[in-house]
Amino acid sequence: MRSYKIAAIPGDGIGTEVIAAGLEALAVCARRDGGFRLDVEDFDWGSDYYKRHGVMMPADGLARLKPFDAIYFGAVGAPDVPDHVTLWGLRLAICQPFDQYANVRPTRILPGITSPLRGVGQGDLDWVIVRENSEGEYAGQGGRSHRGLPEEVATEVSIFTRSGVARIMRFAFDLARSRPRKLLTVVTKSNAQRHGMVLWDEIAAEVAADYPDVTWDKMLVDAMTMRMVLKPGSIDTVVATNLHADVLSDLAAALAGSLGIAPTANLNPERTFPSMFEPIHGSAFDIVGKGIANPVGTFWSAVMMLEHLGEPTAAARLMRAIERVTADPSLHTPDLGGPATTRQVTDALLAALEGDNL
Ligand code: NAI
Ligand code: MG
Repeated sequence: MRSYKIAAIPGDGIGTEVIAAGLEALAVCARRDGGFRLDVEDFDWGSDYYKRHGVMMPADGLARLKPFDAIYFGAVGAPDVPDHVTLWGLRLAICQPFDQYANVRPTRILPGITSPLRGVGQGDLDWVIVRENSEGEYAGQGGRSHRGLPEEVATEVSIFTRSGVARIMRFAFDLARSRPRKLLTVVTKSNAQRHGMVLWDEIAAEVAADYPDVTWDKMLVDAMTMRMVLKPGSIDTVVATNLHADVLSDLAAALAGSLGIAPTANLNPERTFPSMFEPIHGSAFDIVGKGIANPVGTFWSAVMMLEHLGEPTAAARLMRAIERVTADPSLHTPDLGGPATTRQVTDALLAALEGDNL
């Protein structure tokens, strides 16, 4: 029997609530399909761990994660720990050394879900945003001098390397090619940022030459926000820098109904290191402990994980179960305007998985 080692890192806040739900779903997936086993190990790293030990994860954390086939991650962030400490201490501390340079964020209007966009329904918005996940504006280059003095200075330097840009462009063109419309939009800001972003554009054009079957266009990021709202049907696959895609994908999630639905995969395509799957949302202090966190983004992230592991049958079954559940508005959590709890949505999903006979 095929078996996969999964590292579960629920993290903080509602991360623990949604990952618990996701693991229940994965257990049923494995049992239903019979062909594989998931060995899950839980890691209690995050802000509580930080308060006890002064670090978000232990010094040998990466060495412990390395042998796993995938990481299933909740969220980090606590009201009483600075956000840059939690983010750089755990999430980015895993993404960067494990070279998870392709961050893939599908967005679609699921059955039963209403987009805030007038007249836009299921099928009218079906995007995948590819976020460069290793350099750009979040490379971590910069520093602060003369702290507290009037002449204090801080720099935050964007890094664009030929190898880093070329590999994300190839990944995005490959992904666009695999989708029916074979359509890619390269997001840029090369009018104002005339070094890194111009290199980005040049490499996009070079790589495009190898993909004559993919139609591509180039869009300034500010214009892209308008296009997402006004002409969602004109977009299919999108590639953008670390910062641009971070912002655009929250907009995408909201346009598809809620941040609580949106999934993401942090991929190391060469599979030298484990890849990491997580909902896009954060730890959501405002609803933690209330039992109303929407687990759909975490379920959808599990679909992406199963696809990555090479279990397409189980992945498709889980996606069908998600769509069965979202189609029923009485099973929507409050972020979608419904009355349901995390428990009720999870139970309905488990029942849909059990009852699926395709
Ligand atoms: P957030 O994503 O935690 O919450 C934004 C809003 O969306 C809140 O009103 C929240 O209740 C709602 N929301 C988010 N996920 C939901 C879900 N599954 N179901 C229902 N409602 C949901 O972002 P926020 O408030 O800006 O940040 C809170 C903390 O999370 C901060 O410490 C931040 O740094 C961290 N964060 C961590 C991320 C990660 O671990 N990948 C991503 C984004 C934020
Ligand atoms: Mg974000």
